[in-house]
Amino acid sequence: MKKATLYTDKHFIIDKVDKRLFGSFLEHMGRAVYEGVYQPQNLNSDKNGFRLDTLKYVKDLGVTVVRYPGGNIVSAYNWEDGVGPKELRPVRLEAAWQNIEDNSFGTNEFMDWAKVANVSPMMAVNLGTRGVDAARNLLEYCNFPSGTYYSDLRIKHGYKEPHNVKLWCLGNEMDGPWQIGHRDADKYGTIACQTAKIMKDIDPTIELAACGSAGVVVPTFGTWDATVVDHCYKYIDYLSMHTYYNNQNKTEEDTKNYLARALSFDAQIKAVLAACDYSTTRNKSKKKINLSIDEWNVVYRPHGKVPADARWTKAPHQIEDVYNLEDALVVGSMLLTMINHADRVKIGCLAQLVNVIAPIMTSDNSAWRQTIFFPFAHCSKYAEGVSLNNVVECDKYDSKDYTDIPYITSSVVWNEEKEELKIFAINRDLDEDSTLSMDLRQFDGYSIKKHILLNSNSVKDTNTEANPLNVVEKQVSNHSKIVDGRLEALIEKHSWNVIVLSKEN
Ligand code: AHR
Repeated sequence: MKKATLYTDKHFIIDKVDKRLFGSFLEHMGRAVYEGVYQPQNLNSDKNGFRLDTLKYVKDLGVTVVRYPGGNIVSAYNWEDGVGPKELRPVRLEAAWQNIEDNSFGTNEFMDWAKVANVSPMMAVNLGTRGVDAARNLLEYCNFPSGTYYSDLRIKHGYKEPHNVKLWCLGNEMDGPWQIGHRDADKYGTIACQTAKIMKDIDPTIELAACGSAGVVVPTFGTWDATVVDHCYKYIDYLSMHTYYNNQNKTEEDTKNYLARALSFDAQIKAVLAACDYSTTRNKSKKKINLSIDEWNVVYRPHGKVPADARWTKAPHQIEDVYNLEDALVVGSMLLTMINHADRVKIGCLAQLVNVIAPIMTSDNSAWRQTIFFPFAHCSKYAEGVSLNNVVECDKYDSKDYTDIPYITSSVVWNEEKEELKIFAINRDLDEDSTLSMDLRQFDGYSIKKHILLNSNSVKDTNTEANPLNVVEKQVSNHSKIVDGRLEALIEKHSWNVIVLSKEN
């Protein structure tokens, strides 16, 4: 049994955890929209065609914000195709993923769905094949009350009240050579700034995220981010950051290395923030540009590769990755990294929500939760309050890409008003359990309410339609206790843990 000690202090506040950290992403791709959230012919759908089993799991997941309609598709998306009478909507070749798009689900259906799902929409505008004009028209359509061409068009389409969308993305991954309409940082920065200016002129209450680098592997990583902020800092509120990891190889050494990927995630957050701050400082601005990590997850199948039999079909099975326990631990450690950066990371969108690299899967007959569902649901439910600086003293290990990887990684969230303390902890050790000890003197009178555990016999265990409850959370009664004013917890090998303490009886 290894030993670990967690140090924290209620005065060492990083910042309040923004609930929008627990957002997700719905792209017109594969079976995400069609069959995932919208399937009118399905017995499990409501009168609007919304899958009720998906909606239940979206609510259980506690998603706060959903980014829509893409992703890569937005860079060639005509928003006008997806509004108005369905029989008049055009069928298009969706070029980014080579799907057939019949536009039977569009902006208004998404807003209806968002309302029922109790999530806030985050809309992306097309800065690939289109630009300033289409973006301002879409904003007018969504947010202007009435009396203008596009606001009246929305009313004619049956939506008297404006949708009042507060969060907007200025395109998607425009630094990536795979992106339709990809351009260099100066050209993108110029069009993003022009678009941002007119959008804020139309509706000053909105918040805008410009495209940061799509990942550290893109050769322009860093300079792209600083250049874009140079162009746009007056009008934008966030720079986006995207990150995907996976464990392509299967040896135990690979898994140990993979479980440490959050160290790279942490380094990427710091690097992108440094680029933002470098740019605003150089421009003599006091404005802080924070991060919108609006795509992050584990992904296995190579991006952009469309299987031959899926080309030009509607809703093909596309990047429907099956996640195991080790993937859930990596997703969990990425969540903890964002919580530990609560002062500068304000928005997070797990990519994606349903069927495509998703925590929720559907077939025509059922819906089920993948392993990654659980750490996300726990964070959205329990990470309410302020994130506290925390340090874990524990054994460390080295792997192919990292040195000094702490076996135990954690976040601590304190809610003073509700008198609740939440400790999130992951054990990366594949072979040995650990104790976790923490001084509770600052939290006098608090007692343990629950210890939630996600673990399984093997880190390769998964949930499938046939075996949907193979890896699920459970409450454990004997893993945490208070001894002489200290929390003494058992953190099992390769496990995810949430320990909830509060003052209430
Ligand atoms: O989430 C899948 C894709 O990954 C998105 O469309 C794109 O933005 C990213 O490359």
